[in-house]
Amino acid sequence: MVEFTFHFPSGFLWGTATSSHQVEGDNTNNDWWRWEQEPGRIRDGSRSGRACDWWRNAEADFDRAAAMGQNAHRLSIEWSRIEPREGVFDDAALDRYREMLRGLRERGIEPMVTLHHFTNPLWLAEQGGWENPLTVERFERYVRHAVSALKDLCRLWCTINEPNVLAYMGWNEGKWPPGKRDFGLSMQVLRHLMRAHARAYHVIHELQPEAQVGIAHNMVIFEPAHPASPLDRVIARLHDRMFNRLVLDAMAAGREPGLFSFRILTALRGTYDFIGLNYYTRRLSAFDRRSPATLFGRTFLNPHGELSDGEYGEVFPEGLYLLLKRLARYGKPIYVTENGIPDADDDQRPRFLVRHLHAMWRAIQQNVPVRGYFHWSLVDNFEWAEGWTLRFGLIEVDPETQARRPRRSADLYAEVCRANALTSETIIRHTPELLEEMFGISIG
Ligand code: GAL
Repeated sequence: MVEFTFHFPSGFLWGTATSSHQVEGDNTNNDWWRWEQEPGRIRDGSRSGRACDWWRNAEADFDRAAAMGQNAHRLSIEWSRIEPREGVFDDAALDRYREMLRGLRERGIEPMVTLHHFTNPLWLAEQGGWENPLTVERFERYVRHAVSALKDLCRLWCTINEPNVLAYMGWNEGKWPPGKRDFGLSMQVLRHLMRAHARAYHVIHELQPEAQVGIAHNMVIFEPAHPASPLDRVIARLHDRMFNRLVLDAMAAGREPGLFSFRILTALRGTYDFIGLNYYTRRLSAFDRRSPATLFGRTFLNPHGELSDGEYGEVFPEGLYLLLKRLARYGKPIYVTENGIPDADDDQRPRFLVRHLHAMWRAIQQNVPVRGYFHWSLVDNFEWAEGWTLRFGLIEVDPETQARRPRRSADLYAEVCRANALTSETIIRHTPELLEEMFGISIG
C-alpha cells in the first residue's frame, strides 16, 4: 500500500480555541450573564452556569490538550473579572490568568490571548456599551492594564473577536445583548469596535514591541442563490462587502466602516500583524423585494448541501481554501483562529476536519502564509443563544457532572498535531471514505 503525507510547515501551530464566558463558569458580572437570566433568550433555557469550570480548573483540560499533541491554544480573558467596577482592577483575577498562561507554557502550549470575546462588564453595558463612543477609551485603559500584566507570558494577541458578528447579532438580529434591531446603530457599533481595535493595537505595541496583534475575523462565503440572476449576484456582493470586507478594509486601508463610507482614519490603517480567520460556512444570497430592512437581501443555507446540527452551517471546505487565497493578498501571516462544527454524535466532524485541513494544506502549497490552526473547540461549551444545544467540542462535556469524554475526532486531531501532517494512515483509520477525494486512490 502506497503511503501519502500532507506535511505542514515546521513550527506550525496546532491548537484549539475557547472564550472566557463559554468555558470559565460563574461570570456573573457581565452582560451575557444578565441576558441568560431573561426568559426566552437562550434556546434551551440553559445558562452558562459553571460552564466548563475553567476558572477553577482549566488545567485539567490543558492536560488533555497537551496529551493530544497540541502546541497552541487560543483563549480569552474576561474584562468583567479584570475590571469588575469602572477603573478598579482586580489583581487576583490577573494572577489567575497569569497562572493559566504559565500552565499552558509549561505544557508546551503557546497561548494566543483574545482581549474581548463578546462579553462586556455590566458597568460598561449600563453606560451604553459599544454604542457609547467613550467605550473606545475604556477599552484602551483595560487593554493597557491587562497587557502590562500578561505580556511576559503572551506574544500573540487578538484584540477583538468578530466585530462583525457582535455588531450584527446584538444590533441587527437582536438575538444577543443588548437585543436591538437597528441597522444604523449596528454600523455605529462596528465603527467603535474598529476604533477600539486600533487603539488596542497601538497600546500593545507600545508595551510590547515584539507582539503580534490581529483581529479574529469571521468570514462567510456568500454565493448568489441563482448564479444566473444579476440581482442575486448584486446581493451576494453586498453581503460580502458588509460582512467580510468592512472589517478588512478598516484594519488594512483605515476605511471607517459604513454602508457608504470613504473616510480614511490613519490611526486605523495597517493595524494588524496577522489576520485571524474564523471560518464556519457558506451562505446563499438572494434578492428579496419584501425585505427593505435587510437591504433587499436574505441569506440561507444551501438546501442541497451537507448541513450540521441545528442547521448551524453547511460543510463547505472549499470555502476555507478560497478565503485563505483571498487573504493572502494582504501579505501578512494568517492564523485560522476558529473552524469547527456542532456535531454531538461526531458523525460529521472527522470528515469535516480532514477536508478542512486538506483545504488549508492546499492553500499553503500555493504559498499562502498560514501559520497555525485553532479548532473550535477543545471542549463542548456554552454556545451563546444556542445554550448547550450545539456541541463543538473535540471532547464532550456534561455541564451537570463536568464529566469529559473524548469524541473520536479527538484522536484524529491528535494524530495530525503530533505528526504535523495529515497522513494516509490517519485518513484510512478515521475517514477511509475520503481516501479517493484526498489522494485520488481507493482501497477496497
Ligand atoms: C464563533 C464565536 C465562538 C463560537 C463559535 C461557534 O463565531 O467566536 O464564540 O461560539 O462561533 O458558533
